[in-house]
Amino acid sequence: MRNESPTPQTANETEADFLHCMLAGLRRQPKSIPPKFFYDARGSHLFDLICATPEYYPTRTETAILERYGAQMAARIGASCRLIELGSGSASKTPLLLRHLADDAVYVPIDICAPHLLQSTARLQALFPQMAMQPLCADYTQLSAQDMQSDAAQRPVIFFPGSTIGNYAPQEAVQLLRDVAQWVGHEGGLLLGVDCKKSPALLNAAYNDAAGHTAAFNLNLLARMQRELGAQLDPEGFFHYAFYNASLGRIEMHLVSRCRQSIRLGNESFAFEEGETLHTENSYKYAAHEFGQLARSAGWHLKTTWSDAQGLFNVHYLSLSATEPRHLLPFGTP
Ligand code: AVI
Repeated sequence: MRNESPTPQTANETEADFLHCMLAGLRRQPKSIPPKFFYDARGSHLFDLICATPEYYPTRTETAILERYGAQMAARIGASCRLIELGSGSASKTPLLLRHLADDAVYVPIDICAPHLLQSTARLQALFPQMAMQPLCADYTQLSAQDMQSDAAQRPVIFFPGSTIGNYAPQEAVQLLRDVAQWVGHEGGLLLGVDCKKSPALLNAAYNDAAGHTAAFNLNLLARMQRELGAQLDPEGFFHYAFYNASLGRIEMHLVSRCRQSIRLGNESFAFEEGETLHTENSYKYAAHEFGQLARSAGWHLKTTWSDAQGLFNVHYLSLSATEPRHLLPFGTP
């Protein structure tokens, strides 16, 4: 990164952005809001709980893939890299890759939640005392190529695990991948986790865990609106609803109104009919070839894919060079 790193959003800017997005989302028909506001301190904690549930297979599956193939991934990335993790959160899987990187690697975690970022960087720094770490508190969707410029000799490689790319509509995902290409330049690389299409039963269970953490995560948005924006609403008046929309290849999460009611925010009142929903998240699932096509329209070429035995989850390495050969690894390749 350039030396004066971009200023993190202030609490006021975050609140203004939150208010702006909530008002725009509540005015929309059907009502929908972007998922990035899930991750306040409580939401980030709830997300960690979701990741540990037996139903939410993506985290443990991606972790197992990184455990098994981390050395291959590091070899694919190559020596001397600046590993930039987008939305690093608790960075629980990151050591599985860092432990295989060369000594001169630099790690740049980027996250919007300052306490999470500082805690996780301190934990990683204790594990890898030799590695240079440059945490950056920012909303990575707001970063420019200039923000990402660096004088460092290391080659930039973006690490984007967790299938967060699936939380973007396909056209937005293409735009994000184009931005990432601009940040890293033609030498750069991209290592990212992508959740696969699979049986609706498995998918529906993953977003409706028995312990109720996903429901609490979804409902926390209403609590945040009350607490931070002074919204007048009845949090008990809504329930969590998540289902796999097979024709669109995505999980949809909604907050469903139990009755006719309204939410008051700012000077406006937003009426909900009984059963009307506030759409809070999409989580797209991609077969490897579908993701390859999407990435190609952003200039990226799929080079290597690592998967689990059941084909639940893929970790892809991509580069901007069309000529570099593609490696197809059958499962079990050591
Ligand atoms: C962060 N993201 C990839 C998660 C997902 O699976 O789409 C967010 C999540 N929402 C509910 N459970 C997990």
